[in-house]
Amino acid sequence: MFLSEPIFRDCASLHWPLQSPNEGRSHFETDIIGNVRDYGAMAEPTLLVTGAGGRLGRLVVESLLESQAGSVVATTREPQRLADLAARGVDVRYADFDQPDSLLSAFAGVDRLLLISTNQIDRPGLRLAQHRTAVGAAKAAGVGHIAFTSVPAPQPLPEAALIDDYFWTEVAIFESGLDWTILRNNLYTETILQTLAYSLATGEMPTAAGRGSRSWVSRADCARTAAAVLAGASGRQILDVTGPETLTSAEFVAVAAQVTGRVLQPVAVSVNDYRRHLLASGLAPMVADALVDYEVATARGYTGVVSPAVKAWTGRTPADVRSVLTENRSMLLAA
Ligand SMILES: NC(=O)c1ccc[n+]([C@@H]2O[C@H](COP(=O)([O-])OP(=O)(O)OC[C@H]3O[C@@H](n4cnc5c(N)ncnc54)[C@H](OP(=O)(O)O)[C@@H]3O)[C@@H](O)[C@H]2O)c1
Repeated sequence: MFLSEPIFRDCASLHWPLQSPNEGRSHFETDIIGNVRDYGAMAEPTLLVTGAGGRLGRLVVESLLESQAGSVVATTREPQRLADLAARGVDVRYADFDQPDSLLSAFAGVDRLLLISTNQIDRPGLRLAQHRTAVGAAKAAGVGHIAFTSVPAPQPLPEAALIDDYFWTEVAIFESGLDWTILRNNLYTETILQTLAYSLATGEMPTAAGRGSRSWVSRADCARTAAAVLAGASGRQILDVTGPETLTSAEFVAVAAQVTGRVLQPVAVSVNDYRRHLLASGLAPMVADALVDYEVATARGYTGVVSPAVKAWTGRTPADVRSVLTENRSMLLAA
């Protein structure tokens, strides 16, 4: 049996937790309907993070180790790259969503699972098939709760594969019968650093987002939130995971200019020209295509939401754009 979080089990309809899961926990606690629970007597849940070899996955595992939330399983296509985590007590297992058989043993004995969306967006349909395979395997393995890293406002959009994949993966999770938490991560601030460095060298930052805004969020905040949710969420809920503010492209450019001391102007361009700029900055075509899909979503108003999820789940105020750019100032100015 997995450890469902008693404090929140009975308020699953609330969008936000009243406190983060491990905050102020003593050995005995009274839950919301007055039952006294002995946490010390409950078995630790087994928590699994897929894609632990990726940048987000590794940060999630680190966060779980730090909070000692349960016993941690990390799956990856390249277990040898996670030898350092294995040495620290993480159960590192091989899993490849393209190899459904690998998931039978990888997901065995797991109570709660974080499904990290894959980065395989170069072949239409592949990523969705991978995610559906993972959801099916989680259900077959008896996983109780699945968390998934999604995007803001996913919709069925065949012309925007990135967004479409997320929509249909969420549907697969909703239909699984499991409990779930959808983590609708806004755009990681780190995704734009390479292109921003290139733009700073030219003095112009093209944008196809018009007056649309976005609440950039750091990858580390997404990871800490995902770890807390994996350890403690119950029921079924959708969380927008965002930074502390929304910025239009022009506002983002103004912050970047202040942080770097360089002249930088926003320039309105077509979607095609925006893609050309991303490619010119050195991004791989599949990454550029993903960012174009995000840019269109921003222009349509789907990414301009600020939520309290990061603070509510981690106890920390999310990093704003200024602080992430400041942290990366020397890299931005090196171009
Ligand atoms: N919100 C945003 O701004 C944003 C930006 C970029 C990406 N993303 C999405 O968020 C995910 C995590 O971000 P990240 O920065 O950690 O990306 P990343 O470093 O590129 O990691 C890619 C991830 O995909 C996994 N993966 C690829 N093929 C797989 C397969 N066949 N089976 C199972 N897992 C597979 C990798 O797992 P292993 O290598 O361990 O097997 C790894 O976790 C990305 O994959 C992408 O879907 C979101």
